[in-house]
Amino acid sequence: MSDRKRVFSGIQPTGNIHLGNYLGAVKNWVAAQDEKENYFCIVDLHSLTLPQDPQELRFQTRSLGAMLLAAGIDPRKSTLFIQSHVTAHAEACWLLNCVTPLGWLQRMTQFKDKSARQESVLTGLLDYPVLMAGDILLYDAHEVPVGDDQKQHVELARDIAQRFNSLFGEEFFVVPEPKIPAVGARVMGLDDPTVKMSKSYAHIRGHAVRLLDEPAEIMRSFKRAVTDSGREIIFSDDPEKAGVNNLLGIYKAITGKPEAAVLADFAHARGYGDLKKGVAEVVIDMLAPIRQRYDQLMQDPAELDSLLAVGAGQAAAVAMPKLARMKEAMGLVLPPSPAGG
Ligand code: TYM
Repeated sequence: MSDRKRVFSGIQPTGNIHLGNYLGAVKNWVAAQDEKENYFCIVDLHSLTLPQDPQELRFQTRSLGAMLLAAGIDPRKSTLFIQSHVTAHAEACWLLNCVTPLGWLQRMTQFKDKSARQESVLTGLLDYPVLMAGDILLYDAHEVPVGDDQKQHVELARDIAQRFNSLFGEEFFVVPEPKIPAVGARVMGLDDPTVKMSKSYAHIRGHAVRLLDEPAEIMRSFKRAVTDSGREIIFSDDPEKAGVNNLLGIYKAITGKPEAAVLADFAHARGYGDLKKGVAEVVIDMLAPIRQRYDQLMQDPAELDSLLAVGAGQAAAVAMPKLARMKEAMGLVLPPSPAGG
């Protein structure tokens, strides 16, 4: 392992990636690439925990690969790969299932929310955080950069790591830390600033800004954003001001300006209309070059597939030996290595 901190994070190829995913996670992955040893994973196995259309899932998996590269993930600095290409992930999940008490999974808030919305709840949905723990632990990642909604899952991964370590050998796994950004950790829905922007509601018009939305559509979504009946443009925890606070938070996360400078930019705004337009403009400007690179990458699927295959090879070189050590620690008999291996 190099001296640099190891980073692992993942994103589901379900639906189009939105501004919350970008500001809460991807933007920060891109920014820290030089300092760390990075593994970024398109977690297609996680997407299977809710019913998917197979054609659509295949398309979205490649599309997300292109989008992450377009957003600035550099394959020379980071390992980008598809989770199901590295079979260690599914296997590690099974091994970790066998040290994880059921009660730990039943109390996960995301499981409770998602299962409440399903008529029939799949076993995979309950097991989702164990697959995620396997993702992280196989790489001995020190840091897991995620949005606020994934913090509980990373904490569960810590609990599972500690349990495994106490059963099978102190220091077997690095116990990972969640890394939640100071700004952009919880981008709220534009149509309802009391709920987080979510892929599950992305089909509702005006809820999410998807990175592939046309500029005119982005402007429309912001113009319709729910605010309040007042006129005050301020950062505030007051639930009444959640809409304005969300818009200012998006602007702050994109421009990187301190709060005073953000407020100064809107000091002469004539009401919320100007605020919405100003925020929409910085979003549209930020996305324009990303969309352009995305379109180019999607024109060459063979090149995209080969970049992802290289990533899978690099990831497997770390994950497969760790998986073998897990099996050995748990008492499984390893198959004899091939002659000369
Ligand atoms: P996913 O695909 O739901 O989301 C990807 C990343 O986007 C963040 N995010 C948000 N951040 C701010 N505001 C929002 N409204 C918002 N919505 C989503 C998420 O916190 C996440 O960082 N289980 C994970 C994927 C995963 C993973 C992993 C992550 C699988 N294995 C290992 C880290 C490490 C998920 O479904 O993310």
